[in-house]
Amino acid sequence: MIGRFNHVAIAVPDLAAATATYRDTLGAEVSAPLAQPEHGVTVAFVTLPNTKVELLEPLGAGSPIAKFLERNPAGGVHHLCFEVDDIIAARNRLKSAGARVLGDGEPKLGAHGKPVIFLHPKDFCGTLIELEQA
Ligand code: CO
Repeated sequence: MIGRFNHVAIAVPDLAAATATYRDTLGAEVSAPLAQPEHGVTVAFVTLPNTKVELLEPLGAGSPIAKFLERNPAGGVHHLCFEVDDIIAARNRLKSAGARVLGDGEPKLGAHGKPVIFLHPKDFCGTLIELEQA
């Protein structure tokens, strides 16, 4: 069901410092920061030849990554994103298998303007999974 690996996301306390690390120290191409108030994060993308790294900084009160950063103050790997051909079919299949879809279970537009859902880490080897419509 899952297809291409789309990105790994890293939650960071300081997006400017993180983008400087990827751009200047690791020599990668890094996008300008993009505020996503509906998701409570500011995002910058590191574009690599075969995938992307999504750097996430909390935005506003009650950011969904605030608790993660309390537990991991220096930042850390936050989620993996896989592509699926049909997000509704994937969601229905996972729910009928007993997997927990976060939020109200309805896809929301993600950072790439495509519908995404998130799956509970306890159902997937301790890792938060994002599925994105291909
Ligand atoms: Co993501």
